[in-house]
Amino acid sequence: MRIVLATGNRHKASELGPMLGAGAEVDVAPDGFEVDETGTTLIQNALLKAWALRPEVPPDQLVVADDTGLEVHALGGRPGVYSARYAGPGATFADNNRLLLHELDGIEDRRAAFVCVLVAVNGDGEVTAGCGICPGDIATAPRGEGGFGYDPVFIPRGMDRSMAELTPEQKNAISHRGRAARVLATALGIAE
Ligand code: IMP
Repeated sequence: MRIVLATGNRHKASELGPMLGAGAEVDVAPDGFEVDETGTTLIQNALLKAWALRPEVPPDQLVVADDTGLEVHALGGRPGVYSARYAGPGATFADNNRLLLHELDGIEDRRAAFVCVLVAVNGDGEVTAGCGICPGDIATAPRGEGGFGYDPVFIPRGMDRSMAELTPEQKNAISHRGRAARVLATALGIAE
């Protein structure tokens, strides 16, 4: 099974490749692949990305796309589907993390969850989906150099380290994306 990931985000590709790769060869989308994430739900955005790439990939190969949001309890679920642009268009990871810590300044309830939706579309246009959730808390300051995005400010439930302080293997074992990938791989019959 050959899989092409509908993402230009190399961090995601490097995480997803090994997770889906048990019985599969995994490539990333061609350079410059980008899709406007105009959906209002994670699954809409994941499907937008998958369908944009589908015509570019031979029918015997599988297209896989993901969309992820960080849902913060005290913010009524924000930034959620808008997590990438939380601090505005072109926001960097550091901008988003700064705004998040600012919005939660003085707030005791730090509960949050990463939510990941993964979809696969085969050459016949059949869609398979998997969802994964990683609950945790927002830290009071960034910690760690690993991972990407909100990882330095996210402390997975039951841990005393941020997601950015975990090894890639530790992150994949408990992350939203790891959980979604295992559900998807099982549904596709390619799980280890
Ligand atoms: P998207 O799925 O690319 O739309 O991601 C939305 C936002 O969530 C981006 O700002 C990402 O950096 C962030 N994000 C996605 N996955 C992760 C993750 O595994 N850890 C931390 N942040 C993430």
